[in-house]
Amino acid sequence: MNKLIKLCLMATWLSSFISLASSANESLDRFKKNPSAENAFSYIFEVAKHPRCANCHGVVENGIHKPTVGEFRINHPMNITAANNLVLTVKDHHFVEVPNAAMNCRSCHQDDNQKEPGMPPGAANDKMPGFVWHMPPATMAVPRDITAKALCEQWLDPARNSHLVFRGGRDDLKTFRAEFLDHHAKVDPLILWAWDPGLGREPAPGTNKDFLKALDIWISAKAPCPI
Ligand code: HEC
Ligand code: HEC
Repeated sequence: MNKLIKLCLMATWLSSFISLASSANESLDRFKKNPSAENAFSYIFEVAKHPRCANCHGVVENGIHKPTVGEFRINHPMNITAANNLVLTVKDHHFVEVPNAAMNCRSCHQDDNQKEPGMPPGAANDKMPGFVWHMPPATMAVPRDITAKALCEQWLDPARNSHLVFRGGRDDLKTFRAEFLDHHAKVDPLILWAWDPGLGREPAPGTNKDFLKALDIWISAKAPCPI
């Protein structure tokens, strides 16, 4: 490839990387200086649409739900789609795998990150045993151009935000708080992974502690969505 073209590509790549990080940092700074519900949600949105969270939630293209990878959320290599997803069910408070496709997420994604960049990441813990690397149903997909309002409404819609358990929502913030803030956001290995993604991947903005604080403030204020 022509050297100049290579340089230009490099510069575009770098500048988009920097702008991604700076809008997230600005919203975190704003939230730290003035922890209003509105600033809390702006920061929450930066976390939710960050590739570390959004890649796994995936996108829907021509009716096919696909995970994405990397800082630019390109489609997962090897044509991986929801057809390769792990199917989990709950037995005696443990998540167990229901046999399905010959090749699923677990064929490559183990309980931990691998030691080299470019290798499949992984996460698991004892607080949610068996809740290993997999993608949520398509109703929880995070389109690349999702708006803060659309994400907020998706999170608070029990018809779209629940799969194995009822998570509450706009009309039941008590359950939403218990399920999402007190449980998932604190102990879910997949959520925690976003701040510990292994070599060569930018962690989600802020810390898990910042995220929990923002959720607390936002939900305590009745979870207002941006207009
Ligand atoms: C490895 C994949 C993976 C990663 C990484 C991940 N999630 Fe999820 N997420 C899931 C799965 C799977 C579910 C569905 C659980 C269920 O209902 O069975 C889910 C459900 C959710 C839900 C509830 C449903 C909804 O409305 O979308 C929210 C909110 C959520 N995740 C937010 C996040 C945030 C924020 C991060 C990053 C800090 C994150 N997720 C990272 C896999 C992931
Ligand atoms: C054949 C092996 C293989 C299978 C099967 C597989 N993956 Fe991956 N996955 C990889 C590799 C390799 C990477 C690392 C690519 C990279 O970082 O550029 C990866 C990266 C990812 C990432 C990117 C993390 C990030 O933020 O950059 C996500 C999300 C992901 N896979 C989700 C899934 C899901 C969900 C499934 C099952 C539906 C799945 N993968 C099945 C090999 C696989």
